[in-house]
Amino acid sequence: MSVGVGATKVKAALYLALVLVSHCCWGPAGGRVLGQSYSDPHLYNITMTVHEMLHVARECSTREAAGHLLTFGEFCLFTTELRQCYDREIPRPPPLSKLSDKSCVDKKRSERKMSAESSPKYEVFLGGSCNPTTWRQNVAIPMLRDQGISFYNPQVSHWEEELVELEYKAKQTASVLFFVFDRNTRNVASMIEAAYMAGCRRKLVVVMDSYTGPGQLINGEAISEQEYEDLTNGLHTVQDVVECQGIPVFGEINHALNCTAKILRENLHPQDLGAEDHVQPIKYPYLQLGDKLIKLHDAFVNTNSEQITLAEARVVYKVVTNKDLTTEELRDIVAAKKGKNIQELNGAELPLNEVYLTFDELCCIVAEFKNQNLESRRLWDVFTHSVQKVLGWALPRRPLRQISNTGGRDIYLGGSMGNRVTWRETVAIPMLLKHGLSYFNPAAGACSGRLLPMEAALMEHSRVLLFVITNTTRGVSAMALASHYIGLGCNVVLCVQMITDESLVNGERLSRSALKDYNRGRSYLTDQANKDGIPVFINIQEAVECAISKCLTR
Ligand SMILES: *[C@@H]1O[C@H](CO)[C@@H](O)[C@H](O)[C@H]1NC(C)=O
Ligand SMILES: *[C@@H]1O[C@H](CO)[C@@H](O)[C@H](O)[C@H]1NC(C)=O
Ligand SMILES: *[C@@H]1O[C@H](CO)[C@@H](O)[C@H](O)[C@H]1NC(C)=O
Repeated sequence: MSVGVGATKVKAALYLALVLVSHCCWGPAGGRVLGQSYSDPHLYNITMTVHEMLHVARECSTREAAGHLLTFGEFCLFTTELRQCYDREIPRPPPLSKLSDKSCVDKKRSERKMSAESSPKYEVFLGGSCNPTTWRQNVAIPMLRDQGISFYNPQVSHWEEELVELEYKAKQTASVLFFVFDRNTRNVASMIEAAYMAGCRRKLVVVMDSYTGPGQLINGEAISEQEYEDLTNGLHTVQDVVECQGIPVFGEINHALNCTAKILRENLHPQDLGAEDHVQPIKYPYLQLGDKLIKLHDAFVNTNSEQITLAEARVVYKVVTNKDLTTEELRDIVAAKKGKNIQELNGAELPLNEVYLTFDELCCIVAEFKNQNLESRRLWDVFTHSVQKVLGWALPRRPLRQISNTGGRDIYLGGSMGNRVTWRETVAIPMLLKHGLSYFNPAAGACSGRLLPMEAALMEHSRVLLFVITNTTRGVSAMALASHYIGLGCNVVLCVQMITDESLVNGERLSRSALKDYNRGRSYLTDQANKDGIPVFINIQEAVECAISKCLTR
Protein backbone atom coordinates (compact mmCIF):
# COMPACT_ATOMS: atom_id res chain seq x y z
CA MET A 1 0.00 0.00 0.00
CA SER A 2 1.28 3.43 -0.83
CA VAL A 3 1.45 5.21 2.47
CA GLY A 4 0.70 8.74 1.31
CA VAL A 5 -2.39 7.97 -0.70
CA GLY A 6 -3.48 5.36 1.82
CA ALA A 7 -3.30 7.79 4.69
CA THR A 8 -5.51 10.28 2.96
CA LYS A 9 -7.99 7.60 2.07
CA VAL A 10 -8.13 6.22 5.58
CA LYS A 11 -8.53 9.70 6.98
CA ALA A 12 -11.40 10.43 4.64
CA ALA A 13 -13.01 7.09 5.35
CA LEU A 14 -12.63 7.62 9.07
CA TYR A 15 -14.15 11.03 8.95
CA LEU A 16 -17.05 9.79 6.92
CA ALA A 17 -17.49 6.87 9.26
CA LEU A 18 -17.45 9.10 12.32
CA VAL A 19 -19.95 11.43 10.78
CA LEU A 20 -22.14 8.46 9.96
CA VAL A 21 -21.86 6.91 13.37
CA SER A 22 -22.57 10.18 15.13
CA HIS A 23 -25.55 10.57 12.90
CA CYS A 24 -26.95 7.06 13.32
CA CYS A 25 -26.31 6.67 17.00
CA TRP A 26 -27.14 10.09 18.34
CA GLY A 27 -29.45 11.72 15.90
CA PRO A 28 -33.16 11.59 16.65
CA ALA A 29 -34.03 10.33 13.18
CA GLY A 30 -31.64 7.49 12.64
CA GLY A 31 -31.84 7.06 8.91
CA ARG A 32 -31.41 10.55 7.54
CA VAL A 33 -29.17 11.13 4.58
CA LEU A 34 -25.81 12.75 4.89
CA GLY A 35 -26.71 15.60 2.58
CA GLN A 36 -28.95 17.14 5.20
CA SER A 37 -26.47 16.77 7.97
CA TYR A 38 -25.24 20.34 8.06
CA SER A 39 -28.52 21.63 9.36
CA ASP A 40 -29.01 18.77 11.77
CA PRO A 41 -28.50 20.10 15.30
CA HIS A 42 -27.58 16.64 16.52
CA LEU A 43 -24.61 16.34 14.27
CA TYR A 44 -21.86 17.97 16.25
CA ASN A 45 -18.56 19.20 14.99
CA ILE A 46 -16.15 16.44 15.80
CA THR A 47 -13.18 17.69 13.84
CA MET A 48 -11.11 18.06 16.99
CA THR A 49 -11.96 14.57 18.08
CA VAL A 50 -10.82 13.22 14.74
CA HIS A 51 -7.58 15.22 15.03
CA GLU A 52 -7.00 13.66 18.39
CA MET A 53 -7.80 10.13 17.31
CA LEU A 54 -5.30 10.35 14.52
CA HIS A 55 -2.70 11.96 16.73
CA VAL A 56 -2.92 9.40 19.51
CA ALA A 57 -2.98 6.54 17.10
CA ARG A 58 0.21 7.88 15.54
CA GLU A 59 1.79 8.22 18.98
CA CYS A 60 0.93 4.61 19.73
CA SER A 61 2.47 3.41 16.49
CA THR A 62 5.99 3.54 15.16
CA ARG A 63 7.16 6.31 12.87
CA GLU A 64 7.43 3.99 9.86
CA ALA A 65 3.88 2.82 10.26
CA ALA A 66 2.56 6.32 10.79
CA GLY A 67 0.81 6.26 7.44
CA HIS A 68 -1.68 3.73 8.71
CA LEU A 69 -3.09 6.17 11.25
CA LEU A 70 -5.56 3.99 13.07
CA THR A 71 -6.28 0.30 13.29
CA PHE A 72 -9.75 -1.05 13.20
CA GLY A 73 -9.68 -1.93 16.90
CA GLU A 74 -8.56 1.56 17.84
CA PHE A 75 -11.23 2.98 15.63
CA CYS A 76 -13.90 0.89 17.34
CA LEU A 77 -12.70 1.95 20.74
CA PHE A 78 -12.67 5.63 19.87
CA THR A 79 -16.10 5.65 18.33
CA THR A 80 -17.61 3.64 21.17
CA GLU A 81 -16.13 5.99 23.73
CA LEU A 82 -17.37 8.95 21.78
CA ARG A 83 -20.87 7.58 21.61
CA GLN A 84 -20.97 6.70 25.30
CA CYS A 85 -19.75 10.11 26.35
CA TYR A 86 -22.47 11.69 24.27
CA ASP A 87 -25.08 9.35 25.71
CA ARG A 88 -24.15 10.03 29.29
CA GLU A 89 -23.53 13.76 28.95
CA ILE A 90 -20.29 13.49 30.89
CA PRO A 91 -19.54 16.68 32.82
CA ARG A 92 -16.14 18.29 32.66
CA PRO A 93 -13.93 17.73 35.71
CA PRO A 94 -12.19 20.81 37.16
CA PRO A 95 -8.44 21.10 36.49
CA LEU A 96 -6.08 20.05 39.29
CA SER A 97 -4.38 23.43 39.15
CA LYS A 98 -7.64 25.31 39.71
CA LEU A 99 -7.31 27.83 42.51
CA SER A 100 -10.58 27.51 44.37
CA ASP A 101 -10.17 30.63 46.50
CA LYS A 102 -9.77 33.15 43.71
CA SER A 103 -11.89 31.98 40.89
CA CYS A 104 -11.80 34.28 37.93
CA VAL A 105 -15.55 34.30 37.53
CA ASP A 106 -16.23 35.51 41.07
CA LYS A 107 -13.58 38.15 40.86
CA LYS A 108 -14.92 39.46 37.59
CA ARG A 109 -18.40 39.48 38.97
CA SER A 110 -17.51 41.69 41.92
CA GLU A 111 -15.44 43.96 39.68
CA ARG A 112 -18.36 44.31 37.36
CA LYS A 113 -20.67 45.20 40.22
CA MET A 114 -18.25 47.85 41.42
CA SER A 115 -17.73 49.58 38.14
CA ALA A 116 -21.28 49.24 36.88
CA GLU A 117 -22.37 52.29 38.85
CA SER A 118 -19.53 54.58 37.90
CA SER A 119 -19.42 54.15 34.12
CA PRO A 120 -21.88 53.56 31.29
CA LYS A 121 -22.45 49.94 30.33
CA TYR A 122 -22.11 49.08 26.68
CA GLU A 123 -23.76 46.06 25.18
CA VAL A 124 -20.91 45.17 22.83
CA PHE A 125 -17.16 45.67 23.13
CA LEU A 126 -15.52 45.74 19.69
CA GLY A 127 -12.17 44.00 20.23
CA GLY A 128 -9.65 42.50 17.85
CA SER A 129 -7.75 43.80 14.82
CA CYS A 130 -7.21 47.57 14.66
CA ASN A 131 -5.30 49.60 12.06
CA PRO A 132 -5.28 49.27 9.14
CA THR A 133 -8.53 47.26 9.25
CA THR A 134 -11.87 49.03 8.88
CA TRP A 135 -14.33 46.33 9.87
CA ARG A 136 -15.61 48.41 12.78
CA GLN A 137 -16.43 51.55 10.76
CA ASN A 138 -17.57 49.82 7.60
CA VAL A 139 -19.44 46.77 8.85
CA ALA A 140 -19.99 46.42 12.58
CA ILE A 141 -20.91 49.95 13.64
CA PRO A 142 -23.54 50.60 10.91
CA MET A 143 -25.22 47.29 11.70
CA LEU A 144 -25.17 47.80 15.48
CA ARG A 145 -26.53 51.36 15.08
CA ASP A 146 -29.23 49.99 12.84
CA GLN A 147 -30.30 47.56 15.52
CA GLY A 148 -30.06 50.13 18.35
CA ILE A 149 -27.26 48.21 20.08
CA SER A 150 -24.76 50.20 22.17
CA PHE A 151 -21.06 49.51 21.68
CA TYR A 152 -17.59 50.61 22.77
CA ASN A 153 -15.09 51.20 19.97
CA PRO A 154 -11.47 51.15 21.22
CA GLN A 155 -10.11 52.09 17.77
CA VAL A 156 -9.77 55.87 17.97
CA SER A 157 -7.93 58.34 15.77
CA HIS A 158 -6.55 60.32 18.74
CA TRP A 159 -5.37 58.15 21.54
CA GLU A 160 -5.05 59.58 25.07
CA GLU A 161 -3.88 58.10 28.33
CA GLU A 162 -7.30 58.32 30.04
CA LEU A 163 -8.76 56.01 27.41
CA VAL A 164 -6.93 53.10 29.05
CA GLU A 165 -9.21 53.14 32.07
CA LEU A 166 -12.33 53.79 29.98
CA GLU A 167 -11.51 50.91 27.67
CA TYR A 168 -10.79 48.61 30.58
CA LYS A 169 -14.14 49.40 32.21
CA ALA A 170 -16.03 49.01 28.94
CA LYS A 171 -14.42 45.61 28.47
CA GLN A 172 -15.30 44.52 32.00
CA THR A 173 -18.94 45.53 31.77
CA ALA A 174 -19.90 44.76 28.17
CA SER A 175 -22.46 41.99 27.73
CA VAL A 176 -20.79 40.66 24.60
CA LEU A 177 -17.11 40.78 23.66
CA PHE A 178 -16.94 40.84 19.88
CA PHE A 179 -13.50 39.97 18.45
CA VAL A 180 -12.44 40.03 14.82
CA PHE A 181 -9.12 38.49 13.78
CA ASP A 182 -8.22 39.97 10.42
CA ARG A 183 -5.31 38.67 8.34
CA ASN A 184 -3.93 42.16 7.77
CA THR A 185 -2.62 42.41 11.33
CA ARG A 186 -0.65 40.11 13.62
CA ASN A 187 -3.39 40.06 16.28
CA VAL A 188 -0.95 38.97 19.00
CA ALA A 189 -2.44 40.92 21.91
CA SER A 190 -5.99 40.21 20.70
CA MET A 191 -5.32 36.48 20.63
CA ILE A 192 -4.09 36.60 24.22
CA GLU A 193 -7.09 38.69 25.23
CA ALA A 194 -9.73 36.50 23.56
CA ALA A 195 -8.17 33.33 24.98
CA TYR A 196 -8.36 34.90 28.44
CA MET A 197 -11.99 35.95 28.00
CA ALA A 198 -12.91 32.43 26.90
CA GLY A 199 -11.33 31.17 30.13
CA CYS A 200 -13.39 33.66 32.14
CA ARG A 201 -16.56 32.26 30.57
CA ARG A 202 -17.55 35.66 29.20
CA LYS A 203 -19.99 35.93 26.30
CA LEU A 204 -17.54 35.92 23.46
CA VAL A 205 -18.20 36.17 19.74
CA VAL A 206 -15.13 35.46 17.62
CA VAL A 207 -14.74 35.99 13.88
CA MET A 208 -11.63 34.38 12.48
CA ASP A 209 -9.87 34.99 9.22
CA SER A 210 -6.83 32.95 8.21
CA TYR A 211 -3.40 34.06 7.02
CA THR A 212 -2.96 33.24 3.35
CA GLY A 213 0.61 31.96 3.44
CA PRO A 214 4.28 32.86 3.60
CA GLY A 215 4.88 36.12 1.72
CA GLN A 216 1.52 37.68 2.52
CA LEU A 217 1.85 41.30 3.57
CA ILE A 218 1.34 42.63 7.07
CA ASN A 219 2.05 46.32 7.44
CA GLY A 220 3.61 46.26 3.98
CA GLU A 221 6.13 43.54 4.94
CA ALA A 222 6.09 40.00 3.58
CA ILE A 223 5.94 37.46 6.40
CA SER A 224 8.36 34.53 6.45
CA GLU A 225 7.30 30.91 6.44
CA GLN A 226 8.10 30.63 10.15
CA GLU A 227 6.10 33.71 11.02
CA TYR A 228 3.20 32.46 8.95
CA GLU A 229 3.27 29.19 10.88
CA ASP A 230 3.57 30.89 14.26
CA LEU A 231 0.64 33.23 13.57
CA THR A 232 -1.48 30.43 12.15
CA ASN A 233 -0.77 28.22 15.16
CA GLY A 234 -1.73 31.14 17.36
CA LEU A 235 -5.12 31.45 15.66
CA HIS A 236 -5.60 27.68 15.91
CA THR A 237 -4.87 27.78 19.62
CA VAL A 238 -7.38 30.57 20.13
CA GLN A 239 -9.96 28.66 18.12
CA ASP A 240 -9.28 25.52 20.14
CA VAL A 241 -9.57 27.14 23.57
CA VAL A 242 -12.68 29.06 22.50
CA GLU A 243 -14.33 25.93 21.12
CA CYS A 244 -13.19 24.10 24.22
CA GLN A 245 -15.66 26.29 26.11
CA GLY A 246 -18.37 25.27 23.67
CA ILE A 247 -18.29 28.67 21.93
CA PRO A 248 -18.57 28.54 18.12
CA VAL A 249 -16.04 30.44 15.99
CA PHE A 250 -17.45 32.42 13.05
CA GLY A 251 -15.94 32.84 9.62
CA GLU A 252 -18.06 35.75 8.51
CA ILE A 253 -18.61 39.06 10.25
CA ASN A 254 -22.24 39.73 9.27
CA HIS A 255 -23.27 36.30 10.42
CA ALA A 256 -21.51 36.89 13.76
CA LEU A 257 -23.21 40.29 14.13
CA ASN A 258 -26.62 38.77 13.51
CA CYS A 259 -25.92 36.19 16.19
CA THR A 260 -24.67 38.89 18.57
CA ALA A 261 -27.97 40.73 18.15
CA LYS A 262 -29.82 37.53 18.97
CA ILE A 263 -27.64 36.84 22.02
CA LEU A 264 -28.50 40.29 23.35
CA ARG A 265 -32.17 40.18 22.39
CA GLU A 266 -32.86 36.81 23.95
CA ASN A 267 -30.22 36.97 26.68
CA LEU A 268 -28.49 33.84 25.38
CA HIS A 269 -24.94 32.56 25.57
CA PRO A 270 -22.96 31.96 22.37
CA GLN A 271 -22.97 28.30 23.46
CA ASP A 272 -26.76 28.24 22.99
CA LEU A 273 -26.63 29.09 19.28
CA GLY A 274 -27.64 26.23 17.05
CA ALA A 275 -28.66 25.06 13.65
CA GLU A 276 -31.43 27.65 13.30
CA ASP A 277 -28.69 30.29 13.52
CA HIS A 278 -26.59 28.35 11.00
CA VAL A 279 -24.11 27.57 13.73
CA GLN A 280 -22.86 24.09 14.33
CA PRO A 281 -23.00 23.55 18.08
CA ILE A 282 -19.96 22.15 19.81
CA LYS A 283 -20.91 19.50 22.30
CA TYR A 284 -18.49 18.01 24.85
CA PRO A 285 -15.43 19.43 23.11
CA TYR A 286 -13.26 18.34 26.00
CA LEU A 287 -13.82 14.61 25.60
CA GLN A 288 -10.56 12.84 26.08
CA LEU A 289 -10.94 9.76 24.00
CA GLY A 290 -7.22 9.31 23.55
CA ASP A 291 -6.93 8.77 27.28
CA LYS A 292 -8.68 5.40 27.07
CA LEU A 293 -6.51 4.20 24.25
CA ILE A 294 -3.37 5.14 26.11
CA LYS A 295 -4.52 3.39 29.26
CA LEU A 296 -5.22 0.29 27.27
CA HIS A 297 -1.96 0.56 25.45
CA ASP A 298 0.03 0.99 28.65
CA ALA A 299 -1.62 -2.00 30.20
CA PHE A 300 -0.73 -3.99 27.13
CA VAL A 301 2.87 -2.81 26.97
CA ASN A 302 3.37 -3.69 30.62
CA THR A 303 2.87 -7.34 29.75
CA ASN A 304 5.86 -7.08 27.39
CA SER A 305 4.58 -9.20 24.55
CA GLU A 306 2.87 -8.84 21.20
CA GLN A 307 -0.09 -10.89 22.36
CA ILE A 308 -1.67 -11.42 25.72
CA THR A 309 -3.73 -14.28 27.03
CA LEU A 310 -7.42 -13.89 27.64
CA ALA A 311 -6.68 -14.28 31.37
CA GLU A 312 -4.43 -11.22 31.19
CA ALA A 313 -6.91 -9.39 28.97
CA ARG A 314 -9.50 -9.91 31.66
CA VAL A 315 -7.33 -7.99 34.13
CA VAL A 316 -6.56 -5.24 31.61
CA TYR A 317 -10.25 -4.92 30.85
CA LYS A 318 -10.95 -4.44 34.53
CA VAL A 319 -8.24 -1.80 34.85
CA VAL A 320 -9.50 0.19 31.89
CA THR A 321 -13.25 -0.10 32.33
CA ASN A 322 -13.69 -0.77 36.07
CA LYS A 323 -15.88 -3.67 35.09
CA ASP A 324 -15.47 -7.46 34.88
CA LEU A 325 -15.95 -9.43 31.72
CA THR A 326 -18.84 -11.75 32.45
CA THR A 327 -18.56 -15.53 31.99
CA GLU A 328 -20.92 -15.16 29.07
CA GLU A 329 -18.70 -12.59 27.41
CA LEU A 330 -15.59 -14.67 28.02
CA ARG A 331 -17.36 -17.62 26.46
CA ASP A 332 -18.22 -15.51 23.40
CA ILE A 333 -14.60 -14.55 22.96
CA VAL A 334 -13.29 -18.09 23.37
CA ALA A 335 -15.89 -19.35 20.93
CA ALA A 336 -14.96 -16.71 18.38
CA LYS A 337 -11.22 -17.27 18.71
CA LYS A 338 -11.36 -21.06 18.73
CA GLY A 339 -13.99 -21.22 16.04
CA LYS A 340 -16.26 -23.21 18.32
CA ASN A 341 -19.93 -23.27 18.93
CA ILE A 342 -21.01 -21.64 22.21
CA GLN A 343 -22.97 -24.75 23.23
CA GLU A 344 -19.77 -26.81 23.07
CA LEU A 345 -18.23 -24.57 25.71
CA ASN A 346 -21.20 -24.63 28.08
CA GLY A 347 -20.31 -25.98 31.47
CA ALA A 348 -16.68 -26.58 30.54
CA GLU A 349 -13.77 -24.74 32.14
CA LEU A 350 -12.84 -21.88 29.77
CA PRO A 351 -9.23 -22.13 28.51
CA LEU A 352 -8.37 -18.53 29.39
CA ASN A 353 -4.64 -19.15 29.24
CA GLU A 354 -4.75 -20.73 25.81
CA VAL A 355 -6.54 -17.96 23.97
CA TYR A 356 -4.28 -15.15 22.74
CA LEU A 357 -5.34 -11.64 21.81
CA THR A 358 -3.56 -8.84 19.95
CA PHE A 359 -3.74 -5.22 21.02
CA ASP A 360 -6.19 -4.57 18.26
CA GLU A 361 -8.47 -7.36 19.36
CA LEU A 362 -8.30 -6.11 22.91
CA CYS A 363 -9.45 -2.67 21.70
CA CYS A 364 -12.35 -4.29 19.90
CA ILE A 365 -13.33 -6.24 23.00
CA VAL A 366 -13.27 -3.19 25.22
CA ALA A 367 -15.31 -1.29 22.66
CA GLU A 368 -17.75 -4.13 22.18
CA PHE A 369 -18.45 -5.29 25.70
CA LYS A 370 -18.22 -2.08 27.64
CA ASN A 371 -21.57 -1.06 26.34
CA GLN A 372 -24.39 -3.10 27.81
CA ASN A 373 -27.13 -1.42 25.83
CA LEU A 374 -28.34 -4.04 23.38
CA GLU A 375 -30.27 -1.68 21.16
CA SER A 376 -27.23 0.41 20.38
CA ARG A 377 -25.07 -2.68 20.17
CA ARG A 378 -27.17 -3.88 17.28
CA LEU A 379 -26.77 -0.57 15.51
CA TRP A 380 -23.11 -0.90 16.26
CA ASP A 381 -22.91 -4.29 14.57
CA VAL A 382 -24.48 -2.95 11.40
CA PHE A 383 -22.08 -0.08 11.46
CA THR A 384 -18.89 -2.02 12.17
CA HIS A 385 -19.57 -4.45 9.38
CA SER A 386 -19.84 -1.72 6.81
CA VAL A 387 -16.80 0.13 8.10
CA GLN A 388 -14.81 -3.08 8.22
CA LYS A 389 -15.24 -3.30 4.49
CA VAL A 390 -14.01 0.23 3.95
CA LEU A 391 -11.04 -0.13 6.23
CA GLY A 392 -10.34 -3.80 5.74
CA TRP A 393 -7.28 -3.26 3.59
CA ALA A 394 -5.72 -0.78 5.96
CA LEU A 395 -5.31 -2.83 9.10
CA PRO A 396 -1.73 -3.89 9.52
CA ARG A 397 -0.53 -5.17 12.87
CA ARG A 398 1.96 -2.70 14.26
CA PRO A 399 4.58 -2.89 16.94
CA LEU A 400 3.84 -0.75 19.94
CA ARG A 401 5.83 1.95 21.63
CA GLN A 402 5.63 3.04 25.21
CA ILE A 403 4.11 6.47 25.62
CA SER A 404 3.48 8.47 28.72
CA ASN A 405 0.35 7.75 30.68
CA THR A 406 -1.97 10.47 31.83
CA GLY A 407 -1.84 10.26 35.61
CA GLY A 408 -1.52 13.48 37.63
CA ARG A 409 1.78 15.39 37.64
CA ASP A 410 3.21 18.25 39.65
CA ILE A 411 4.26 20.72 36.96
CA TYR A 412 3.29 21.28 33.34
CA LEU A 413 6.24 22.70 31.40
CA GLY A 414 4.41 24.92 28.93
CA GLY A 415 5.57 27.85 26.86
CA SER A 416 7.93 28.40 23.95
CA MET A 417 8.76 25.34 21.87
CA GLY A 418 11.10 24.69 18.98
CA ASN A 419 14.43 23.16 18.05
CA ARG A 420 16.47 25.90 19.65
CA VAL A 421 14.44 26.11 22.84
CA THR A 422 16.31 24.25 25.57
CA TRP A 423 15.14 25.70 28.88
CA ARG A 424 13.23 22.55 29.77
CA GLU A 425 16.19 20.19 29.50
CA THR A 426 18.91 22.57 30.69
CA VAL A 427 17.13 24.46 33.47
CA ALA A 428 13.73 23.20 34.54
CA ILE A 429 13.96 19.41 34.48
CA PRO A 430 17.22 19.14 36.48
CA MET A 431 15.73 21.42 39.15
CA LEU A 432 12.50 19.44 39.32
CA LEU A 433 14.32 16.13 39.56
CA LYS A 434 16.39 17.47 42.44
CA HIS A 435 13.18 18.12 44.35
CA GLY A 436 11.66 14.81 43.34
CA LEU A 437 8.79 16.51 41.50
CA SER A 438 7.08 15.04 38.46
CA TYR A 439 6.33 16.96 35.27
CA PHE A 440 4.68 16.89 31.88
CA ASN A 441 6.88 17.99 29.02
CA PRO A 442 4.61 18.78 26.07
CA ALA A 443 7.67 19.47 23.91
CA ALA A 444 8.74 15.82 24.19
CA GLY A 445 5.87 14.49 22.08
CA ALA A 446 5.13 15.02 18.45
CA CYS A 447 3.81 18.55 18.10
CA SER A 448 0.51 18.53 16.29
CA GLY A 449 0.11 22.30 16.06
CA ARG A 450 -3.34 22.05 17.64
CA LEU A 451 -4.44 21.97 21.23
CA LEU A 452 -5.77 18.45 21.34
CA PRO A 453 -8.18 17.45 24.07
CA MET A 454 -5.39 15.08 25.11
CA GLU A 455 -2.98 17.89 25.69
CA ALA A 456 -5.62 19.84 27.53
CA ALA A 457 -5.97 16.75 29.70
CA LEU A 458 -2.24 16.78 30.47
CA MET A 459 -2.55 20.37 31.59
CA GLU A 460 -5.62 19.65 33.60
CA HIS A 461 -3.83 16.82 35.37
CA SER A 462 -1.03 19.14 36.52
CA ARG A 463 -0.97 21.01 39.83
CA VAL A 464 1.05 24.00 38.63
CA LEU A 465 1.19 25.31 35.05
CA LEU A 466 4.53 26.92 34.21
CA PHE A 467 4.76 28.89 30.95
CA VAL A 468 8.11 30.22 29.79
CA ILE A 469 7.89 32.68 26.89
CA THR A 470 11.49 33.08 25.70
CA ASN A 471 13.01 35.97 23.74
CA THR A 472 14.06 33.51 21.02
CA THR A 473 10.51 32.67 19.93
CA ARG A 474 7.45 34.63 18.85
CA GLY A 475 5.54 32.51 21.35
CA VAL A 476 2.07 33.46 20.07
CA SER A 477 0.41 30.12 20.70
CA ALA A 478 2.10 29.68 24.08
CA MET A 479 1.00 33.12 25.25
CA ALA A 480 -2.61 32.53 24.20
CA LEU A 481 -2.63 29.22 26.04
CA ALA A 482 -1.10 30.70 29.20
CA SER A 483 -3.63 33.51 29.11
CA HIS A 484 -6.51 31.07 28.76
CA TYR A 485 -5.46 29.10 31.82
CA ILE A 486 -5.03 32.32 33.81
CA GLY A 487 -8.60 33.19 32.75
CA LEU A 488 -9.78 29.79 33.96
CA GLY A 489 -8.37 30.65 37.39
CA CYS A 490 -5.58 28.07 37.39
CA ASN A 491 -2.34 28.03 39.34
CA VAL A 492 -0.06 29.53 36.68
CA VAL A 493 3.55 30.75 36.94
CA LEU A 494 4.89 32.87 34.08
CA CYS A 495 8.30 33.77 32.75
CA VAL A 496 8.06 36.42 30.04
CA GLN A 497 11.13 37.73 28.21
CA MET A 498 10.81 40.73 25.91
CA ILE A 499 12.30 40.41 22.44
CA THR A 500 15.16 42.86 21.87
CA ASP A 501 16.91 44.21 18.79
CA GLU A 502 19.62 41.60 19.31
CA SER A 503 17.21 38.66 19.58
CA LEU A 504 17.26 36.06 16.88
CA VAL A 505 13.94 34.31 16.62
CA ASN A 506 14.72 30.85 15.31
CA GLY A 507 17.60 32.43 13.45
CA GLU A 508 15.51 35.29 12.01
CA ARG A 509 15.80 38.94 12.95
CA LEU A 510 12.43 40.66 13.37
CA SER A 511 11.37 43.90 11.72
CA ARG A 512 10.55 46.91 13.89
CA SER A 513 6.81 46.48 13.52
CA ALA A 514 6.98 42.75 14.21
CA LEU A 515 9.08 43.34 17.31
CA LYS A 516 6.54 45.88 18.53
CA ASP A 517 3.61 43.51 17.94
CA TYR A 518 5.21 40.54 19.71
CA ASN A 519 6.33 42.68 22.63
CA ARG A 520 2.91 44.29 22.91
CA GLY A 521 1.57 40.75 23.35
CA ARG A 522 4.15 40.12 26.08
CA SER A 523 3.21 43.34 27.89
CA TYR A 524 -0.47 42.55 27.61
CA LEU A 525 0.03 39.07 29.06
CA THR A 526 2.18 40.42 31.89
CA ASP A 527 -0.40 43.10 32.78
CA GLN A 528 -3.20 40.58 32.76
CA ALA A 529 -1.20 38.24 34.99
CA ASN A 530 -0.37 41.06 37.43
CA LYS A 531 -4.06 41.98 37.70
CA ASP A 532 -4.89 38.36 38.50
CA GLY A 533 -2.11 37.90 41.04
CA ILE A 534 -0.12 35.49 38.85
CA PRO A 535 3.66 35.65 39.49
CA VAL A 536 5.65 36.83 36.45
CA PHE A 537 9.44 36.47 36.11
CA ILE A 538 12.05 37.37 33.51
CA ASN A 539 14.58 34.84 34.74
CA ILE A 540 13.70 31.22 33.93
CA GLN A 541 15.39 29.76 36.98
CA GLU A 542 13.44 32.04 39.33
CA ALA A 543 10.19 31.07 37.62
CA VAL A 544 10.97 27.36 38.04
CA GLU A 545 11.84 27.94 41.70
CA CYS A 546 8.50 29.68 42.22
CA ALA A 547 6.63 26.79 40.57
CA ILE A 548 8.53 24.33 42.78
CA SER A 549 7.71 26.24 45.96
CA LYS A 550 4.03 26.30 44.97
CA CYS A 551 4.12 22.53 44.61
CA LEU A 552 5.89 21.99 47.89
CA THR A 553 3.61 24.26 49.92
CA ARG A 554 0.27 23.20 48.51
C1 LIG B 1 -15.58 22.06 12.35
O1 LIG B 1 -14.50 22.63 13.06
C2 LIG B 1 -13.31 22.80 12.30
C3 LIG B 1 -12.22 23.33 13.18
O2 LIG B 1 -12.40 22.98 14.49
C4 LIG B 1 -13.57 23.71 11.11
O3 LIG B 1 -12.39 23.84 10.33
C5 LIG B 1 -14.68 23.13 10.28
O4 LIG B 1 -14.99 24.01 9.23
C6 LIG B 1 -15.93 22.90 11.14
N1 LIG B 1 -16.94 22.23 10.33
C7 LIG B 1 -18.13 22.76 10.10
C8 LIG B 1 -19.01 21.97 9.21
O5 LIG B 1 -18.48 23.82 10.62
C1 LIG C 1 -28.33 39.05 8.91
O1 LIG C 1 -29.65 39.47 9.16
C2 LIG C 1 -30.23 40.22 8.11
C3 LIG C 1 -31.57 40.75 8.59
O2 LIG C 1 -32.28 39.80 9.32
C4 LIG C 1 -30.34 39.34 6.88
O3 LIG C 1 -30.90 40.05 5.80
C5 LIG C 1 -28.95 38.87 6.48
O4 LIG C 1 -29.03 37.97 5.42
C6 LIG C 1 -28.27 38.18 7.67
N1 LIG C 1 -26.91 37.92 7.28
C7 LIG C 1 -26.27 36.80 7.59
C8 LIG C 1 -24.89 36.64 7.04
O5 LIG C 1 -26.76 35.93 8.28
C1 LIG D 1 16.93 37.03 26.61
O1 LIG D 1 16.52 37.16 27.97
C2 LIG D 1 17.50 36.80 28.91
C3 LIG D 1 16.88 36.92 30.29
O2 LIG D 1 16.44 38.22 30.52
C4 LIG D 1 18.73 37.68 28.76
O3 LIG D 1 19.73 37.27 29.66
C5 LIG D 1 19.25 37.60 27.33
O4 LIG D 1 20.31 38.48 27.16
C6 LIG D 1 18.12 37.92 26.36
N1 LIG D 1 18.62 37.73 25.01
C7 LIG D 1 18.41 38.62 24.05
C8 LIG D 1 19.04 38.33 22.75
O5 LIG D 1 17.75 39.61 24.24
